[in-house]
Amino acid sequence: MGKTTTAAAIAMGAAADGARVAVVTIDPARRLANSLGLDELGNEPQRIDDGRFAEHGIEITGELWALMLDAKRTFDELIDQLAPDTRTRDEVLANPIYEQLSNAVAGSQEFTAIAKLYDLDASGRFDLIVLDTPPSRNALDFLDAPQRLTGFFQGRAIQVFLRPAGIGGKLFGAGAGVAFGILRRVTGIDLLRDLSVFFRALGGMIDGFVARARRVAALLSDPGTTFLIVTSPRHDPVEESIFFHRKLQEAGMPFGGLVVNRLHPRPELDGDLPAGLDESLRNRVLSSAEELAALAESDAAAVERLREQLGDPPVLIVPERAEDDVHDVEGLAHVRAHLWSSATSG
Ligand SMILES: Nc1ncnc2c1ncn2[C@@H]1O[C@H](COP(=O)(O)OP(=O)(O)OP(=O)(O)O)[C@@H](O)[C@H]1O
Ligand SMILES: [Mg+2]
Repeated sequence: MGKTTTAAAIAMGAAADGARVAVVTIDPARRLANSLGLDELGNEPQRIDDGRFAEHGIEITGELWALMLDAKRTFDELIDQLAPDTRTRDEVLANPIYEQLSNAVAGSQEFTAIAKLYDLDASGRFDLIVLDTPPSRNALDFLDAPQRLTGFFQGRAIQVFLRPAGIGGKLFGAGAGVAFGILRRVTGIDLLRDLSVFFRALGGMIDGFVARARRVAALLSDPGTTFLIVTSPRHDPVEESIFFHRKLQEAGMPFGGLVVNRLHPRPELDGDLPAGLDESLRNRVLSSAEELAALAESDAAAVERLREQLGDPPVLIVPERAEDDVHDVEGLAHVRAHLWSSATSG
């Protein structure tokens, strides 16, 4: 649909306009890194060389930084910030349960994305931070990730583990104790010990974690934050956008506008076809023009429906780029040019 492309183009455009910008991408395909001419993007902001854009007539008067979110590393950093001392930190990070947990808790990728946003914002190094969303995941996960993680840490499952007599005692009963004992002998994994050490170490951090999750959640509804919905003018993405917009409103999140990417413009076919075209070529030209016109009609109807359903928001249109897809600075420049011109023309 163009979320990652749009995020990069907005960041590039704002940096060209003089802002200090960081774009945070969650793009396992590395399309963003590639389109910026890099092989890799790390978990810390990396300054993109202005020279890459100069070749394409774009002068970056601000700063453009990019990073690719590494959810695990960001979670580690969070533990590092919250742990009361290095011993507890190392105990948690080295614990086999931790790795499972940081991956398994629903929404932890989204949560770490917002946690990263929080840290970048707090650093004061940037005027604008653009956060991309993960591919083909439910964008709604972003909205309630902080609450969901807080719920997890305050929930019964963990509280049971934190009770002194919890593990191995009443929780699993004697039979389970035997089973864990066998597991340990067979596999060398002392699950009970790992679990109890882990949760005891984590126990002291829960208040800090919950407080952090609250601040992170507050950042999402801060007036300085804006959600943009990026869609293509096709049926399913349009309906999804309408649904997401409604959820944004229910959650009281600031909605800034709509980007419709890959729109087919109305073909310009004024005047007659050149004389002397042979009959079959002439028919082919006419029928492909008709196809394009039909696509353009249906795209225009999709934009109309979106305007109506989203309460006539600012709409930025990016046409389908016929020659090529968007995989380099030139492609980003195309997207940026259209975003900026439709922003100023209303
Ligand atoms: N206006 C456009 N014209 C032609 N191709 C485009 C356009 N916008 C994006 N693309 C291409 O579509 C593909 C998907 O774009 P992009 O990665 O930005 O989408 P995404 O929404 O981030 O996808 P994902 O859900 O996988 O993260 C890319 O190959 C990109 O080059
Ligand atoms: Mg993407």
